[in-house]
Amino acid sequence: METGDGGKLDEAVAYNKAAWDERVALHVDSAYYDNESFKAGRNALRSFERDEVGDVTGKTLCHLQCHFGQDTLSWARLGASVVGLDFSEAAVDAARDLAAELDLEAEFVCSNVYDAVGALGSRQFDIVYTGIGALCWLPDIPRWAQACAELVAPGATFYLAEMHPITEVMADEDLVAVNDYFPSREGTRMEGPGSYADWAAPTENNTTYEWTHPVSEVIGALLDAGLQLELFHEHDFTLFERWRFLVVGEDFIWRMPADRPRLPLLYSIRMTKPV
Ligand SMILES: C[S@@+](CC[C@H](N)C(=O)[O-])C[C@H]1O[C@@H](n2cnc3c(N)ncnc32)[C@H](O)[C@@H]1O
Repeated sequence: METGDGGKLDEAVAYNKAAWDERVALHVDSAYYDNESFKAGRNALRSFERDEVGDVTGKTLCHLQCHFGQDTLSWARLGASVVGLDFSEAAVDAARDLAAELDLEAEFVCSNVYDAVGALGSRQFDIVYTGIGALCWLPDIPRWAQACAELVAPGATFYLAEMHPITEVMADEDLVAVNDYFPSREGTRMEGPGSYADWAAPTENNTTYEWTHPVSEVIGALLDAGLQLELFHEHDFTLFERWRFLVVGEDFIWRMPADRPRLPLLYSIRMTKPV
């Protein structure tokens, strides 16, 4: 990546890739991803995403940062013709294996998201879908937004559902602001084993770099890239145990308990590309 910082961002991204490569097998076998029920037919998408994206039958859909493919293959089960893209070979291999085992038609491509346009042969899609823990790994949102916009066919849809950055500001259990809302260029270095799927899992590649991206930065970059805003929602639930006091439902959605303030925990954006 051309960063002009002596390769520090490249080094950060290499740490992230090593961490993600190692976590694929952990996630495939985790209770969090519950691959057995997925194989038995469970659709991994959240109902608000399905409602906000709408009918995908017969549409081409590109899923950026697809991990091992559960969400990508869930769109395929709903009738989309899907391509998933991720920079982790381990993730792409696991996604291909899962598609083959379930006899689902899907293509998986290994590439950094910034290089997605070239990696996908400049194809354009009816729907470009991403999020759910994707943007915090990316140092350069304008460059990401440019790639996303180029992948959307004229008149077609871009959709993002993502963790709300305010939850990174109030990272501690007492909900006071401990981190910046506005990101630093170099990101935040994190150390720790496991992942949201299992914080106690023993792992070796435990250094990562993450970036908090204000909602205004994300929307602004997508508008600058030529997309038009159709929908912006904030949601009072999230998809993992962000704080230990969150209450998980049978739907694997985590919510604030009644004695805590209702905060935006996720947000979603739908945009369209002008014809
Ligand atoms: C939290 S996971 C996404 C989760 C996904 N929504 C799911 O639950 O299955 C983040 C994914 O982003 C990928 N990733 C991180 N940085 C990337 C980059 N620069 N280019 C492409 N993929 C990247 C990782 O390999 C990982 O699979």
